[in-house]
Amino acid sequence: MKIKTCPICGKEFPCYADEDGRTCWCESFPKINIDDALDCLCPDCLADKVIEQGYSQNEISTLHKETIGVSMKILVVYYSLDGNTKYLAECIAESVGADVLRLMPVKDIKNNKMKYFFGGKQASLRTKPELQSFDVDIIEYDLIIIGTPVWAFTMAPAVRSFLNKVELKDKKIGLFSCHRGGRGKAITHMKELLDGNEILSTTNFQEPIKGEQDKKEQICSWAQNLIETVKSQ
Ligand SMILES: Cc1cc2nc3c(=O)[nH]c(=O)nc-3n(C[C@H](O)[C@H](O)[C@H](O)COP(=O)(O)O)c2cc1C
Repeated sequence: MKIKTCPICGKEFPCYADEDGRTCWCESFPKINIDDALDCLCPDCLADKVIEQGYSQNEISTLHKETIGVSMKILVVYYSLDGNTKYLAECIAESVGADVLRLMPVKDIKNNKMKYFFGGKQASLRTKPELQSFDVDIIEYDLIIIGTPVWAFTMAPAVRSFLNKVELKDKKIGLFSCHRGGRGKAITHMKELLDGNEILSTTNFQEPIKGEQDKKEQICSWAQNLIETVKSQ
């Protein structure tokens, strides 16, 4: 997949032309003459051009809807200490072309045997550690996917910090957790902090890096379904 920039509006979008075994989203649009000086257009600008050249709004809006997953801006936000949540976040990002924000506490717990004591204590006390600053404008995303490891049967403290820090309203959200067999109420607690948003789907994985390929397929199809849900709304 290549990321291109629309020469008309400047928006970035994925291009799948010349990729083995995959057709690009633009091939479902009618073939039209576009100024040779222009490279590929994003779904919105291509839809406008097609209408300019005589196609009806109705015909195009159906096609255009099909490309929502293409023009949709998706962000995957996660915290990970041992790599499980990171692994799934990266699988999602790769499969749906999402941006990624990894949450990093300014002072994270040390990854040694004492992590269960110190991390469990932080999580149980609902601590909100200060996060390293990040340069992501959450508001511009249409779909936000948030992943957490389960710590002491709830979300990891860094995820709690994030949900308290950013003001999410009216966003479409997907949530996932990684655990070792006792998922507890991590997802329920995240939902409580996300009141006022639309939680489209949630999922939980037990130690995904132990069964990589299988889990990769599961998380990718979950993410694709999320996009389908948004499209069908
Ligand atoms: C401080 C701490 C507390 C944990 N508490 C739980 C728990 O309550 N239930 C559970 O199933 N796993 C628990 N785990 C295991 C992690 O949820 C699991 O290993 C997860 O896959 C780690 O994700 P990560 O690799 O992205 O850090 C805990 C791990 C740590 C470090």
